[in-house]
Amino acid sequence: MPATSLKDEILALKKERGAIILVHNYQLPEVQDVANLCGDSLELSRAAASMKGEVIVFCGVDFMAETAAILSPDKTVLLPAPDACCPMAQMISAEELRYAKTRNPDAAVVCYVNTTAEVKAESDICCTSSNAVKVVNSVKQDRVIFVPDRNLGRYAARFTKKEILPWEGFCIVHDQITSAHVAAARQAHPDAVLLVHPECRPEIIDLADHVASTSGIIHHVCTSQKQEFIIGTEVGILHRLLKECPEKRCFPLSQAAVCRNMKKTDLKNVRDALQSLCPRITVPGEIADRARGAIERMLAL
Ligand code: 13P
Ligand code: SF4
Repeated sequence: MPATSLKDEILALKKERGAIILVHNYQLPEVQDVANLCGDSLELSRAAASMKGEVIVFCGVDFMAETAAILSPDKTVLLPAPDACCPMAQMISAEELRYAKTRNPDAAVVCYVNTTAEVKAESDICCTSSNAVKVVNSVKQDRVIFVPDRNLGRYAARFTKKEILPWEGFCIVHDQITSAHVAAARQAHPDAVLLVHPECRPEIIDLADHVASTSGIIHHVCTSQKQEFIIGTEVGILHRLLKECPEKRCFPLSQAAVCRNMKKTDLKNVRDALQSLCPRITVPGEIADRARGAIERMLAL
């Protein structure tokens, strides 16, 4: 079926179901184009908590849909591609975190939103890439167990006096960006500003002109006086950049920075999800209640 008619079906079903479609900035262009809201993890969490609609179709990966289900337990939250997961979120279990807490009883636990609901339930407060520094500085303890992204943890450590104990997890997409990519991109585009995501390795952060979440990168490009930008994050963001600020020239830092899991959602499985109201994401009550505390403390900041 041609993409345009799938799009029409989705728009009709969306209305019929009273649904909202939340889409992460890394999603396929055609999926971004049916969104009620396209954004970064923080914007999407806020929208899941506040936007009206009985059904949320989450076009992203599993932890994002879980977060929406935790924040809106009365809504039907759908993840069109049920196998879309974040490998980084699998790099820590609740049991491993409980053990780390017994080893460091004086430390606060800050968890990146890229975690399972069980890990959030064991954490004091959640954070995203756009507020990690603020969240770390908000806890009263002087020591912080930061899970699971070692790169984001070390990035936050640059802006706090607190001792950060980073978990050894990482994003398989951002962690493979190297200084050789930076050297090649700088040579090809000598006048461009280098913007990178804080999931990148510390040596890439050192070479960047600006570090921000996906929506932070979009905001920077759209509001800057400069014309050319090298974009150090997943390539799906380039579609949004082209839509939001078509007059600017944006080049990927690495063409290989593709998150396979973010590409599992397509118009067909979005349409099917709206039709069947499946696959539905739910989080068991007791875990959801504890995880909600960590997410709401972040949203309250
Ligand atoms: P943000 O969009 O919140 O910057 O996060 C990027 C990411 O990798 C989500 O999995
Ligand atoms: Fe996970 Fe990285 Fe993909 Fe984001 S880009 S969903 S952190 S693997």
